[in-house]
Amino acid sequence: MTSEVRRAAQILRAGGLVAFPTETVYGLGADASNPEAVARLYAAKRRPAGHPVIVHFADAGRAFEWAREVPESAGKLAARFWPGPLTLILKRSPKARDFVTGSQDTVGLRVPAHPVAQRLLREFGGGVAAPSANIFGKVSATTAAHVLEDLAAAADLVLDAGASEIGIESTIVDLSGKTPVILRPGAIAKRQLEEALNVRIGEKGARAPRHSGGHARHYAPKTPARLVPAHDLDREIASAKASVAVLAFSRPDERVDFWIRMPREPKAYARRLYAALRELDGADCETILIEAPPDAPEWAAVRDRLSRATG
Ligand code: TXA
Ligand code: MG
Repeated sequence: MTSEVRRAAQILRAGGLVAFPTETVYGLGADASNPEAVARLYAAKRRPAGHPVIVHFADAGRAFEWAREVPESAGKLAARFWPGPLTLILKRSPKARDFVTGSQDTVGLRVPAHPVAQRLLREFGGGVAAPSANIFGKVSATTAAHVLEDLAAAADLVLDAGASEIGIESTIVDLSGKTPVILRPGAIAKRQLEEALNVRIGEKGARAPRHSGGHARHYAPKTPARLVPAHDLDREIASAKASVAVLAFSRPDERVDFWIRMPREPKAYARRLYAALRELDGADCETILIEAPPDAPEWAAVRDRLSRATG
């Protein structure tokens, strides 16, 4: 892996694209200081121009050089959760140029914990713009095989380190305003952020900046998918007129062509989620039915992704 990581860093320096593992999902990386490289990244993902990308660093010291103001709250969250599955939105410094921020006055910064991501970022030294390594709006990639399904032609190198441990994208916290706001729930829960900051944290409001993860239909399989309350699942299956694929907590039902049974524990569920959505899509059924998880705080991130996957 060492020589591969060195080659990956060279590719980044030369303006190429490298897919790499993080503890959340795989990212498709480009040199965040190189406008042509970032343009290639957008083209590869078919991502509309003007959507900001997260910039990744080996450590908080380097990350904060891309912010012109680092509030005390940012220092606290970085000390507590970096490296880890947390992205901070801060007011940008001149290093964060329009082509990574979508011309907004803020920048998204993340220090991932995955050892391969860490080695790559250290070897490269600078900031790596890395959205999730999937076609825009589709299901994110949690394995190198998923990356190749979507981006085989576009990535100059894919670093393979097995399946991502967390399985869904980082928690995004906007610290650029008066009070912290969660823009995207993730593995780091609201309660943990509140404890670290000793303040109440708001949910995403109307004032929140544009972010692509905020689009209603995102992380979506190609097959139309619906979220179904647990008590309606049986009735929905009984009344289905076409073939259905089901994602549920219970045991498979004989009437159903394709069934994936999911763990009842939210972290295990998250780890399995995107691979499961891809498998459901691959079953070529007319509809996907997804049993809604419990309405409890520990399920917030999973519920967010499922509600987007089902539009
Ligand atoms: O876990 C993750 O965060 C993964 C891994 C690869 O690090 N990355 C990821 O990137 O999910 P992406 O591009 O798929 O999603 C990034 C989200 C988008 O919704 C984007 O709009 C938002 O972060 N974002 C980036 N910069 C922002 C900014 N300045 N203000 C508001 N939202 C921002
Ligand atoms: Mg994404």
